[in-house]
Amino acid sequence: MRGARKGARLTQAELAARSGLSRATIIKIESGARFDISSLFALMRALDVRLYGERLGVGERLGVVEQDMRGRVSFTYDADAMSGGLRVPLSIAMPSGTLTYAPSAIVPFLEGLLPDNEDVRDAWARCFEVSSRNAFALLANVGRDCAGAVEFLREEELDLGGGTTPLSDADVAERLRELARDPAGWLVSGDRWSLAGAQSKFTLARRSDGQWAGALGSEPSTHIVKPGISGYRDQALNEHVSMRSAGALGLRVAKTEYVDFNGVHALVVTRFDRRRARDHSVVRVHQEDMCQALAVYPRRKYEACGGPTAAAIARLLRDNSTDGEGDVWEFTRALVYNYLIGAPDAHAKNYSVMHAPGLTRITPLYDVASALAYDATGESETDQAAMSIGGRRQFGTVHGRHWDRLARQLKIDPGRLRDEVRRQAGAIPPAFADELDLENASELRDRLLPKLDHLCAATVTQLRD
Ligand SMILES: Nc1ncnc2c1ncn2[C@@H]1O[C@H](COP(=O)(O)OP(=O)(O)OP(=O)(O)O)[C@@H](O)[C@H]1O
Ligand SMILES: [Mg+2]
Repeated sequence: MRGARKGARLTQAELAARSGLSRATIIKIESGARFDISSLFALMRALDVRLYGERLGVGERLGVVEQDMRGRVSFTYDADAMSGGLRVPLSIAMPSGTLTYAPSAIVPFLEGLLPDNEDVRDAWARCFEVSSRNAFALLANVGRDCAGAVEFLREEELDLGGGTTPLSDADVAERLRELARDPAGWLVSGDRWSLAGAQSKFTLARRSDGQWAGALGSEPSTHIVKPGISGYRDQALNEHVSMRSAGALGLRVAKTEYVDFNGVHALVVTRFDRRRARDHSVVRVHQEDMCQALAVYPRRKYEACGGPTAAAIARLLRDNSTDGEGDVWEFTRALVYNYLIGAPDAHAKNYSVMHAPGLTRITPLYDVASALAYDATGESETDQAAMSIGGRRQFGTVHGRHWDRLARQLKIDPGRLRDEVRRQAGAIPPAFADELDLENASELRDRLLPKLDHLCAATVTQLRD
């Protein structure tokens, strides 16, 4: 094989990334050594794509993702699914009017389902003996429970079922301790799920009787557990308070709880891309984030890295949502909120749209957290918004004229936007105070509230010019 590879002018690393095999496996094959049979699974070239399973009556399969011998990945809708009245596309970037999509549309979508955290990708690649740079090969192993209603199935596993294993609070606590020891250890044996993001997390299923359980194989998980960012004291609690306060202001936001699992605390987020059917089974709801919908790679999720701007997202919503103006306004309110609470991570992967037959709408907010309780370190940009507000990103530097410019960019009424900034700036400090008191979080309250008060008050003063 070495000769063939050299003939094709590929290094071992390049062949690994293209084929999906790990470099270690290529070295083993080239040296003539025996290698694990599971590596062969990565050689398969096609993955069935299922959306909503069979529940919408659109047929078993939505289409197929294929990787050719040059490592080029494409997606093709099944003609059957389309003629059967398919009304939910895989992505806004891949409308169902066209049959086949090139890598420029499908690969950002696939990458968008995988962790943004390189250590986690590397750990998964080692575990499944594939290349960490090949999204197709990673999803062949973990794509059974993703964000939204999509599932990826290998031919030999089409009938792989699901199932849950009950977990006590002590079991969840142990898993959290394990994750603290090994922040890349998102998966445990039997897990086949994937989620985006850089922070430590794992999924759980809550049974209809309230019992926590692990979701195995293709079982849909119902909750996301986040222990918080290490090095940022009480970060999970702070995220919970930031989300709850958004809800108190009337923003649509994912439900969160700050749970004590036998002495180990974590944020537990209810997934809005899952709902319970009448028979108590869990049904997936399709969603995608703004990078996926705009065919932008996750590494460009921040505007500062060339990623989507607020104006690009507003345009996408106006053109595609079933209630374009309503959703642009919902998104605008979220931008205002993220600015006023000093949340630096509201990038394009932290906004999503959901798709149901005949319906596309912005989802509730998720992953919203103030960074005001933490000192900006220069490198981490915690003192800047992810998306610019009329040309400004630094918290405390947005004036009336910048909000007016944002209004023009988003094609909304500037007076309405100014009113919303004033309203939220008045309501945020008391909402945070209430939520912090409810959680008895006096230490976090002391670090956070004075800065929150200051940013909100300063923003109102700066509306004048
Ligand atoms: N409540 C929810 N319902 C459905 N999907 C969700 C929910 N919360 C998060 N997700 C999905 O899970 C992904 C990861 O979650 P989240 O954004 O909270 O992680 P993170 O690691 O903190 O992200 P980041 O890297 O942006 O900090 C999201 O990009 C989104 O696709
Ligand atoms: Mg996120």
